[in-house]
Amino acid sequence: MRRRDAYAEPFRIKSVEPIRMTDREHRRKMISEAGYNLFNLSSDDVYIDLLTDSGTGAMSDAQWAAMMTGDEAYAGSRSYVALKEAVKDTFGYDFMLPVHQGRGAEKVFMAMMVKPGDTIPGNMHFDTTIGHILLRGGRPLDLVAEKGYEIASDDPFKGDIDLERLEETLSDGKLSVPFVIMTITCNSNGGQPVSMRNMKMASDICRRYDKPMFFDCARFAENSCFIKMREQGYKDKSVKEIARETFALGDGCLMSSKKDGLVNIGGLLCFKDESLYRKAWEYEIPFEGFITYGGMAGRDMAALAQGLREVVEYEYLEDRLGQAAYLADLLIERGVPVITPAGGHGVFIDAKEYLPSIPQLEFPAQALGVELYVEAGVRGVELGSCAFGHKDPATGAEVPHKLELLRLAIPRRTYTDRHMMVVARAFEEISARKAGIGGYRIVWQTEVLRHFTARFEPVG
Ligand SMILES: Cc1ncc(COP(=O)(O)O)c(C=O)c1O
Repeated sequence: MRRRDAYAEPFRIKSVEPIRMTDREHRRKMISEAGYNLFNLSSDDVYIDLLTDSGTGAMSDAQWAAMMTGDEAYAGSRSYVALKEAVKDTFGYDFMLPVHQGRGAEKVFMAMMVKPGDTIPGNMHFDTTIGHILLRGGRPLDLVAEKGYEIASDDPFKGDIDLERLEETLSDGKLSVPFVIMTITCNSNGGQPVSMRNMKMASDICRRYDKPMFFDCARFAENSCFIKMREQGYKDKSVKEIARETFALGDGCLMSSKKDGLVNIGGLLCFKDESLYRKAWEYEIPFEGFITYGGMAGRDMAALAQGLREVVEYEYLEDRLGQAAYLADLLIERGVPVITPAGGHGVFIDAKEYLPSIPQLEFPAQALGVELYVEAGVRGVELGSCAFGHKDPATGAEVPHKLELLRLAIPRRTYTDRHMMVVARAFEEISARKAGIGGYRIVWQTEVLRHFTARFEPVG
C-alpha cells in the first residue's frame, strides 16, 4: 500500500463548495427516473462525482485572477496573445486556434482532413474522436499494442501503439490514410501513458510514409510526468522539457483543455505548419468562431494560459498521479479488480471480472456504476460495451467491446484522499452482495455516442 502521508497536497484550500449525502431510497428513485444512466442524474443528487475529470477541476487563485484580466475583444484580444504565448512555450507550436472544447477541435480537424472511405489509425481513439471520424465517412482504426488490453500488468506504457501494425497499415496501398493520431494518455484503456520511445518510432514510421502525426493531447502533462517517472533517461528532465520533446515529434495537436489545461471549458487545435493552419480557418470560422477566440471567452483563454503553466509543475503532477494510484491500491486491497498500473486520471474497474454472472451484452460496467451510485452516491461512468460496442455491419448483431470498464475519473485538485476512502468503503458493501446484482438492457439510444443519453431497464 502506497504511503500518502510522506508529503501533503501541494496546495491549500481557499474556497469550498458544499456537497451533500442523500439516502439510499432517494438514490434508488433518482437512478430509476434517470433510466439507469448516470449521465441523466442531477448533480445535486451525487455526493462524490467521478463521472469525468473533464472540466470538473478546481482553478488556482492565479487563474481566477487571470479571469479578471480577460480581454473580450472579438479579434486580436490580449488574452488570445497570452494563450498563443503559453502554447508556444509549452508545446512549441507557432500556430494555434482556440476552440470551445476538444470535440470542437475534432470537428474542425476532421472536416478539413477526412474524406469518405479514409482510414484513421491511432493507438486508441476516444469516443468523440471516433464519432467525428464516422461523421465524415472515415474509419477509425485502433492499433494499441496487445498489452494495452491486459487488465493486470506491470507494463509502464500500456498506451503504446503497435508499431508493426502501424507500418502494415501505412504501407497498405489499398488504404487511404490522411494522418495518424496518438492519444496521450490513452483514455479509453485506462489513462495509460505512451512512452517517448514508442512516439519516436511511430513518428519515424509516419515520416517514412509521408503521413502527418497529430496528438490528441488532453492529458499531455500526465503523459509527460509518467515518462519522467518511468522511462529511462528522463528522470532529470523537467515535465515541460518532456512535453516539448513529445510535441516536436508530431505535426500538431488537438486538445481538450478541460483536462490538462486546468480549466472548466476550452480547447486547442495547433499546427506546426502554417498552410494547414490557414486551411483550418475555413472550418474554424463557421464552426467555432473567429480565429482569435474560436468559441472561448477572453477570460477563459486567460485562465487557460495560466493553467498550461501550472499543469507542468512536477509537485502538482506527483500528487495528482499519486492520488489515482492510491485509490487503485485501496480497491485492490478490497479485492476489486482494477487496471494496473493505475492510469493518470482515474481508476478503471474490470466489471467483467468483478461481476462475472452478468453477460457482456447486459452491460456489467453499467450495472456496477448504478450499484456504486445507489450504495454511496458516487458517480462513475461506463466505458464498455455501451460506450464502445457496435453493430456487426453484416448481421446487425451487437458486438461487445473487448474491455468492460467502470471508470472513476478524479477531477483535478478537487477531492481529498478521504473522499477516495469513501469510494473504497462503498466497494466493501457492494462486494458483500454482488452475487445478486443483475444486468441491464437498452430501451432507447441514439445512433452515435449512445452512452451519453441511452436509457436502460433492469433485465429480469
Ligand atoms: C482523449 C480525449 N480526446 C478528446 C476528448 C473530447 O474532449 P471534450 O470533452 O472537451 O470535447 C476527450 C474527453 O474526454 C478525451 O478524453
